[in-house]
Amino acid sequence: MKIKQYLYTIALAGFAFGVASCGASGDHPGYEYAPQMYNSVAYEPLSQIQNEEEGSWLSSREDGKGEFFNSNTNNPHGMNMREPVANTVPRNRDGYLPYRLKTFELEKAAEMQSPIEATDEVIAEGRVLYTQYCATCHGPGGEGDGKAGEVVGGVANLKGGAYIDLPEGHIFHVIMKGKGRMGAHGSQIPQERIWKIVHYVKQEIQKQ
Ligand code: HEC
Repeated sequence: MKIKQYLYTIALAGFAFGVASCGASGDHPGYEYAPQMYNSVAYEPLSQIQNEEEGSWLSSREDGKGEFFNSNTNNPHGMNMREPVANTVPRNRDGYLPYRLKTFELEKAAEMQSPIEATDEVIAEGRVLYTQYCATCHGPGGEGDGKAGEVVGGVANLKGGAYIDLPEGHIFHVIMKGKGRMGAHGSQIPQERIWKIVHYVKQEIQKQ
């Protein structure tokens, strides 16, 4: 009987301790176990601790501030990263803007001009990319006779009839967004490479 009471007391004390240590109110975030795991000592772009006292109990900093103080006092809101100027649009690694035309905006896309010149080098790269991404369906010569194309069915013969006159922007858009039974390739092929493929299709495949 005594042992049972003893165990109850320990359990109750443990419970009370557990509840009490969860407490966090107002500006007090509660106690943390191993705070270095939560608070980066290094600068973080999007999180900043503005309280100069934070972590002062273990601080070894020479500037006398708390170990976890990590904001940049020169920036608004103590942020470590500056916000980009309003209306800034991100460019990708190649310097291209995001492609915003929707799948159905094919006519608008047809007015686009290739931003890169059709040099021999570009066309040679286009040939490699065409072989990699298009030949499976459209065939090595673009005649719509690729092996995978047999399964898909109805693959366009890029050398035939109306396809010959397709504007470069139109072809770019079809690769980017897909059309009919052809799937979109925009998520797999960067814009610059798509333009290279387009040059290859226009300059080599369709002029043979
Ligand atoms: C999975 C098979 C497949 C792959 C891969 C593929 N295509 Fe197609 N492509 C098609 C099919 C099928 C059509 C006919 C689409 C339709 O009208 O339904 C087509 C149509 C086209 C057209 C004609 C668009 C139009 O206006 O009618 C062009 C140009 C074209 N493809 C270029 C390419 C290029 C360049 C690549 C490589 C980046 C490529 N395709 C990769 C299957 C494919």
